[in-house]
Amino acid sequence: MSDTSSAPAAAPGYYQRHIFFCLNDRTNGEDSCAHHNAQAGFDRCKAQVKAAGLAGAGKVRVNKAGCLDRCAGGPVAVVYPEGTWYTYVDAADIDEIVESHLKNGQVVERLVTPAELGR
Ligand code: FES
Repeated sequence: MSDTSSAPAAAPGYYQRHIFFCLNDRTNGEDSCAHHNAQAGFDRCKAQVKAAGLAGAGKVRVNKAGCLDRCAGGPVAVVYPEGTWYTYVDAADIDEIVESHLKNGQVVERLVTPAELGR
């Protein structure tokens, strides 16, 4: 594996962008992202990324995550490599994140999770 000349051009990050959705579902009475339609947000994002032809190596990956410890801003998703955190509400929000950020690299400022919101 010392010859790297055949490595794909997009190899450094493998994915151009990677979005993680917190799907944590607390059953102890505490709030969590799953109580705010996180699964629907994840499913919508996954479907929209696939439909737009953005899924795959060198492009975009959509993944489930457990608690990301920013529950107060939930439901949350985070996009790397930028490290942009989003708080979304509905399918239209997800569609805007896909089209603007995941496809075109433009942060959707109106959906950015306020910096002070942690757990
Ligand atoms: S429950 Fe979603 S960030 Fe903690």
